[in-house]
Amino acid sequence: MRTAVDTARSATSAAPTPATSTLAPKPMSGFSKPEETTQSRALLLLINELMGGVETRFGIKPGTLVERKLVRIFKDMPMATLKDWVESMNNCSTEHSEWQSLVENLTVHETYFCRDPDLMSMLGEEIMPHLLNLRKTQKQVQIWSAASSTGEEVYDLTFSALRAMQKAGYARMFEGKLVPEAGWSVFSFGTDISNQALRTAKAAVYGDLGMGSFRNLPDEWKSMFEDVKIAPANAMPGVNYFKIREWVRQCTRFERFNLMNNRPPVMGMDLVFCRNVLIYFEDPIKKAVQTMLARSMSTGGVLVLGASVQMLVPEYFESRLGKGGPWYVRNDTRV
Ligand SMILES: C[S@@+](CC[C@H](N)C(=O)[O-])C[C@H]1O[C@@H](n2cnc3c(N)ncnc32)[C@H](O)[C@@H]1O
Repeated sequence: MRTAVDTARSATSAAPTPATSTLAPKPMSGFSKPEETTQSRALLLLINELMGGVETRFGIKPGTLVERKLVRIFKDMPMATLKDWVESMNNCSTEHSEWQSLVENLTVHETYFCRDPDLMSMLGEEIMPHLLNLRKTQKQVQIWSAASSTGEEVYDLTFSALRAMQKAGYARMFEGKLVPEAGWSVFSFGTDISNQALRTAKAAVYGDLGMGSFRNLPDEWKSMFEDVKIAPANAMPGVNYFKIREWVRQCTRFERFNLMNNRPPVMGMDLVFCRNVLIYFEDPIKKAVQTMLARSMSTGGVLVLGASVQMLVPEYFESRLGKGGPWYVRNDTRV
C-alpha cells in the first residue's frame, strides 16, 4: 500500500533538494524568498506538531537529523494536504501503516557485526562466565536485543554465548556445528520497531559491501556464515553474500516491539542489550525504557546499554565496570 510518506518521498526524489534547516521557525535556505516565508513557517509548525506525535509514540526526540529528514520528505507536498494529513495522523493508532511508514523513514538502522570489539571480548570473558555460573542449574541462557535493527547484534550475541559455553565445557563442535551439551540451550530474541529491518534480520543474509555488516568482522566470527547465491535480479554486482548458519539461526527469533511499550515482550531475560538507540530519546523516556527492561530481567541478569548512555534506574541494578565499558547486574528489587 502506498502511503502519504511514500507519495511525498517520490515527489521529492524526482526533484532532489538539499537538507535545509531545523524546526525552529526561521527562514530556511530552501525557502529564502520573502513570499515563501509564511509557507515555510507553516510547514515548520506542522512538522513540529508531527514530531510531537513521533516522540510520544516512538520516543525519538526532535533533533536536527530527524527534522531535516522530515523537511525533505514534506517540502513538496501541498500545504493543505499536509495539514489534513497531520490532523488525521493525530487521530490514528500508532500501529497504523502511515505511522509505520513514517517511522521507517526516520529511524537509523546503522549496525554491523562485532560493532564494539572491546565490548564483545568483555561479553566473552566477563559477562558470559557470570551468566553461565548463574544458570548452571537451569542450563538455559535467554538473551534479548531490544533494538536489534537488521539482526547483526542478535547473531553476535548468540555466537558469543555458544563460544563461551564451549570454553566452559557446556557446548562442543559436532559435525562443523557449535552445539550446546545435552540439557543446555541458548535463546536469543531480537526486536525492533522497523519491519524492514526485521525482514533482513529474519532472512539472515548479508552482503560484503564496503561499509556494510562485515566492516569489522574478526576471523573467529567467520565460522558463523555460509556462502549463499542470490538471484542476479536481487544481487548487487560485485557483492558476495553470506547467510548465518542454521545452528545459530535456530536459537533466534525476531518480532516487532516498540520500546515505548511498558510491558516487555519477554520475561526472565538473562542478558539484555539495548545499544545505540536510547541516544535518540530524552531522559524521562530513557528512564521509562530502562524500567521496562529491568522488568523483563531475571535476578542476576545483565543489562548492557553502551558506554554513552547513563543508567537512570540504579535502584534495580548493581554497576560493574569491565574492560569494554559498564554493565549492570539486575538486583532483586521488584519493578
Ligand atoms: C542504530 S540501530 C542500533 C542497532 C544495534 N542495537 C546496534 O547497536 O548495532 C537503532 C535501532 O533502534 C530502532 N528503534 C528506534 N526507535 C525505536 C523504538 N521506539 N522501539 C524499538 N526500536 C526502535 C531503529 O529502528 C533501529 O533499528
